[in-house]
Amino acid sequence: MELKDQIHKDQLPKHIAIIMDGNGRWAKQKGRLRAFGHESGTKSVKAVTEACAELGVQHLTLYAFSTENWNRPKLEVQTLMRLLISSLKKEIKTLQDNNIKLNAIGNLQALPSKVHKELQDVIDKTKTNKRMTLTLALSYGSRLEITDALKDICDKVKNNIISPENIDEYIINQHLYTRNLPDVDLLIRTSGEQRISNFLLWQIAYAELYFTEVLWPDFSKEDLYIAILNYQNRERRFGKTSEQLS
Ligand code: IPE
Ligand code: IPE
Ligand code: MG
Repeated sequence: MELKDQIHKDQLPKHIAIIMDGNGRWAKQKGRLRAFGHESGTKSVKAVTEACAELGVQHLTLYAFSTENWNRPKLEVQTLMRLLISSLKKEIKTLQDNNIKLNAIGNLQALPSKVHKELQDVIDKTKTNKRMTLTLALSYGSRLEITDALKDICDKVKNNIISPENIDEYIINQHLYTRNLPDVDLLIRTSGEQRISNFLLWQIAYAELYFTEVLWPDFSKEDLYIAILNYQNRERRFGKTSEQLS
C-alpha cells in the first residue's frame, strides 16, 4: 500500500508547522551557492503545500525567515527577499487552484515595502479560500510576538479595557499573531538540527516534535507522509494516563 493511503484521514494533525532548514548545506554539498539552495527550497514549499491540501490538513505554517535571519550577510537577505516576491507572484495560481488562503505572521513592517505589498496582494486575493490556511512566518520571532502581545495587553489594562485579574490563557492567545489559528499538533524540522530557533514557543506547548535529517530542498510529499504516519503512531496524553484515554 502506498504511504499516502496508510494515513488515517480522521486522525490528521489539524495544524502542521515546519522549520524549513538546510538550504545552505544542501547547496554546499552540490558545490553551489546558498542562493541556489533557497531557490530549490521553494519547490519543496509547493510540494508540501499541495500535499497538505490534498490530504485535508487545515493549517500549515512555514517558518520562512526569522527575526534572527536579518543578521545574515546583506546579499543573502536580499536574495531571500527577492525570492519571496517571485514565489508569491508565481504561486498565487497554486493557491487559487487549491483553494488555499494565504496568511502571514511576524514583524511584517520590517519587510521591504515591495515584499510587503506583494504579500498583502496575495493575502487579499486568497482571503475567501476555504480548503486550507497557509501561514508564512516572516521576520518572525516568538519572543517578539510574546513581547508585542504583552504590550497590547498592558495598553488595554491601562485604558480599562481588560482588568488584570481576567487575564488568562485565552486572552494571551488572542493577542498573539496566531490568534486565528489552533495550537500546533505536529512540528517538523528538517536538516537534522534539533532546536526550536524562536518559533511558536507558546503555540507548540503540546505539539508532537518530529526531526528529520532530510535537507529542506530534498523534502518531498513522501517525507511529509512519513512524518504524519509517525505522528499517528504516537499517543497524545496531554498529562493524562494512557488508561484514561482508552
Ligand atoms: C533555511 O535554510 C532557510 C532560512 C533560514 C531562510 P538555511 O539557510 O538555514 O540552511 P543551512 O541551515 O545553512 O543549511
Ligand atoms: C530557522 O533556521 C529559521 C528558518 C527556518 C526560517 P535557522 O537556520 O536560521 O536557525 P538556526 O540559527 O540554525 O537555529
Ligand atoms: Mg539553517
